[in-house]
Amino acid sequence: MPKTALRIRIYGDNVLRRKAVLVKSVTAECQETLSRMAITMYEGGGIGLAAPQVGISQQLIVVDIGTGLYKLVNPRIIKRQGTQVTQEGCLSVPGICINVKRAKKIWLKALDADGKFVDIQAEDLLACAFQHEIDHLKGKMIVDYAKLFDKMKIKKKLEALERRSRDTSNNEPALKQCRLKI
Ligand code: NI
Repeated sequence: MPKTALRIRIYGDNVLRRKAVLVKSVTAECQETLSRMAITMYEGGGIGLAAPQVGISQQLIVVDIGTGLYKLVNPRIIKRQGTQVTQEGCLSVPGICINVKRAKKIWLKALDADGKFVDIQAEDLLACAFQHEIDHLKGKMIVDYAKLFDKMKIKKKLEALERRSRDTSNNEPALKQCRLKI
């Protein structure tokens, strides 16, 4: 059966605020989910996607900033260095861009799609994408980084997204998007 994209959950959907559970073993089902997440990310023009964004509350992420696809299970950041501020968008929060301050360089441990332990060092955009996805696993989103003034500016947009998240037919025209959809 050909693999297909999954439906992206939009801001307002409770699954995005839930803490994703640890994956006990990397099963064929996990691998299937990771593959479909990658398809969903590419179709959406994103550079990363976390399982809660497709309604699956498990610690699975995919990232590809154009330098190769990472499929990771139970990712953990073990060290951070420096800071960077990036204007981030998110496939689950279409039409909204937020400046987010994160570590410039990170070291992380995870399992790969074969269930093998991997150590990854990432900096700049790649580090940003991993941190953004790992936030999703904790139920955290870019809007949580908005400063008070920005929060006021995006309030109406967020309310519109919440209404849209309840409409599963979800065929609204695309909003003006952020360059980086993570
Ligand atoms: Ni996101």
